[in-house]
Amino acid sequence: MSPAEALALLRERALVCARCPLAAGRTQVVFGVGNPAADLMFVGEAPGREEDLRGEPFVGRSGKLLDLLARQEIGVAREECYIANVVMCRPPGNRDPLPEEIEACRPYLEDQIDLVAPKVVVTLGNFATKTLLATTEGIGRMRGRAYPFRGAHLVPTYHPAAALRGGSEVVAEMRADFVRAKALLGDPR
Ligand code: URA
Repeated sequence: MSPAEALALLRERALVCARCPLAAGRTQVVFGVGNPAADLMFVGEAPGREEDLRGEPFVGRSGKLLDLLARQEIGVAREECYIANVVMCRPPGNRDPLPEEIEACRPYLEDQIDLVAPKVVVTLGNFATKTLLATTEGIGRMRGRAYPFRGAHLVPTYHPAAALRGGSEVVAEMRADFVRAKALLGDPR
């Protein structure tokens, strides 16, 4: 079975997942989207209202900023990358995902990473960074460098929602992180 076929099967299983209580409140599961053979993967936190309705990650305001920065700083279109979240179902009222929800969803995220096998994983914000790097350090301390991760380079950056709130300084730091990701895409593993 090819990685793309395995990913399609994983998606079918994920779409009926009931491993945690978030299943009860969702409109739909928001599985990862994009190129199953992408060199670049983004990992966010959890679906918001628009994502829950449309069944696709990062289609709201945060997604627009993500798309813009990826195009401007890395030169990639959304369809060329793979985009996933730490949890696939919307937490009620957009609250933070709970540790047990993150753990229930972790195998889906790790399998997506292993099947896509990207060269570079960009974690967007605290939840993705802490979940994948098993750290308690905040994003402000973690960003600014890359970390080895499952055969890839992991580049932590702010969540685009933080950039939308925080303004030009946060956007500038995100741009610098995206430039770092672009340089690593050209690096042999
Ligand atoms: N924020 C996220 O972390 N993920 C999405 O898919 C949308 C907003």
